[in-house]
Amino acid sequence: MDYQKWSLGFISLVFLLITSSSAELLIKQVTEGRGIEYNNSYSLKTNLGLTRVLREERPSSKIVTITSFSVIKGRSEAFESSTFEAAGYKWRFMLFVNGNQNDPDGGHENMALYVGIKETESFPRGWEVNVDLKLFVHNEKLHKYLTVSDGTVKRYEAAKTYWGFGNLIPRTTFLDPNEGYILHDTLSFGAEISIVNPAEKQEKITFISNPPDNVFTWKILRFSTLDNKFYYSDEFLVGDRYWRLGFNPKGYQGERPRALSIFLYAQGYKANAVITNTWGSVNLQLKNQRSSNHIQLYSEAWCAIRSGYGIEGNSIILLEDLQNSSKGYLVNDAIIFEAELVKVSVTNIVSA
Ligand SMILES: *[C@@H]1O[C@H](CO)[C@@H](O)[C@H](O)[C@H]1NC(C)=O
Ligand SMILES: *[C@@H]1O[C@H](CO)[C@@H](O)[C@H](O)[C@H]1NC(C)=O
Repeated sequence: MDYQKWSLGFISLVFLLITSSSAELLIKQVTEGRGIEYNNSYSLKTNLGLTRVLREERPSSKIVTITSFSVIKGRSEAFESSTFEAAGYKWRFMLFVNGNQNDPDGGHENMALYVGIKETESFPRGWEVNVDLKLFVHNEKLHKYLTVSDGTVKRYEAAKTYWGFGNLIPRTTFLDPNEGYILHDTLSFGAEISIVNPAEKQEKITFISNPPDNVFTWKILRFSTLDNKFYYSDEFLVGDRYWRLGFNPKGYQGERPRALSIFLYAQGYKANAVITNTWGSVNLQLKNQRSSNHIQLYSEAWCAIRSGYGIEGNSIILLEDLQNSSKGYLVNDAIIFEAELVKVSVTNIVSA
């Protein structure tokens, strides 16, 4: 009785081991079968430049589905689709399920798919159509499209009216029922065609040293009567942008109450300016009104587009030095700040 129990337990254990190891095998197979991009023997050299990704969205230009794939599976001649319109032109697919020997990229090992341009008779002499071409094969099992592209621009012209990939997908992968490209004896493929018109304009950021009217002077009167808050200058235009100065006469924030700081703020833009970040390099000065012993701080920043981005002239003077009349910075209860924008950027739209 005991022996029988033990033996039953042993048998279940063996059964469990077998079950789990075959499950492991199954998982391994599924993982290996997920896509050709994980095949170690995939040749980089012969496929240089080709990118293959899986995506969920259907291709935008055209989809063709062939049912009863087994009927045509062995054929070497091309399948040609109907003519379809995309991106303002007429096109037609050419599919070689057993490869195109005339394509050096293809051969019998690969499925080949091309898109030809059609109805070009009325085009002017020397016509060219530049295309960004993506080709697709539906993977029904993964509910995704294998998306093949090589990033180059395909130039359709009278001497070359079709483009595509002779090595779209290896036939071994494509025909393997576990891979999921042929399911329910059905093959579905597609294309995304977009016209590449080279940009005619570009945005150009240039830096100007010592731009016109780059010195702004701000005299503050009745200094001793001012409150513990920020005061701002009028705005002034340098380059593409308005600027203003600001300071708190009682010192800036808790950490530096004993010093005065001055800020340059990037504000709005002049009419018709191209709105981008603005570079600002600035000399911020507190003028000495008795000598040339001005205090100067240099600061610089990429000023954000939003109004009020501040460039800081940190602790330009200690309050006790400012108050000391023999130093010459506070005279007749007035102080003078000066901002010299030594370099700013301007942005223009110019031809590319
Ligand atoms: C990997 O690719 C090579 C050549 O393309 C092919 O011969 C081989 O069968 C593939 N292996 C798997 C596991 O798909
Ligand atoms: C004011 O400045 C002068 C010259 O720098 C210095 O000799 C003097 O001690 C200062 N006075 C005070 C009250 O700090």
